[in-house]
Amino acid sequence: MSQKFDPANWQKLVDPERAEHLNPERVVVLTGILPGETVVDVGTGVGYFLQAILTAVGPEGTVYGVDISQEMLDKVAEEVGESAQVRLVHSQELAIPLEDNLADHVFVANVFHEIDPAERVAFLQELRRLLRPTGRLTLVEWKKEETPHGPPVEVRLGREEIVSYLYQAGFRFRRSEAAGPYHYLLQASLKEGIFGGDLRP
Ligand SMILES: C[S@@+](CC[C@H](N)C(=O)[O-])C[C@H]1O[C@@H](n2cnc3c(N)ncnc32)[C@H](O)[C@@H]1O
Repeated sequence: MSQKFDPANWQKLVDPERAEHLNPERVVVLTGILPGETVVDVGTGVGYFLQAILTAVGPEGTVYGVDISQEMLDKVAEEVGESAQVRLVHSQELAIPLEDNLADHVFVANVFHEIDPAERVAFLQELRRLLRPTGRLTLVEWKKEETPHGPPVEVRLGREEIVSYLYQAGFRFRRSEAAGPYHYLLQASLKEGIFGGDLRP
């Protein structure tokens, strides 16, 4: 079993020091999210990335903040609020109550290492179900090395491990780059999507 983030520690996620090493605006720029897109932020927590995603999609876009913790979603409702543009969704570990092919982009930050290894492919398949054929998935994860903050190195995943899970779940690796000093970002599209070429490293 993987360790889940304890909602009682939610304040750690909004610690101003966090933005110094994981700046939400900069990370969202790296994702390439475009105006008018529909984005699903899975494991939104207290909505650390929601405002930056909202800015990126603009007034024509929609953002879904999804989490298995109602406590976290209640915090988002207090801070960001719910509207036609920001919808909050209480999910189950491997089941997100949203329709198929809804999203241009699924964004998942600091969550994948919390998924039980035996369930990681099924989790990615559930994310895949939400994506349109042209859609993209962005995962943001802790680098698998000692850093001043973050979960123990043993529970973190290297890029190659994530790429292997992605392939098993029907994704094609697109690109990866640093997302601040302690994190990396990895993007994938659907294997049967419109993007050609196998970019597996
Ligand atoms: C470490 S927090 C990160 C929150 C946010 N993405 C951020 O970076 O600030 C992980 C969040 O993922 C949620 N989570 C864990 N497993 C999940 C799953 N299978 N589906 C949806 N949310 C999940 C947890 O409840 C928690 O709110």
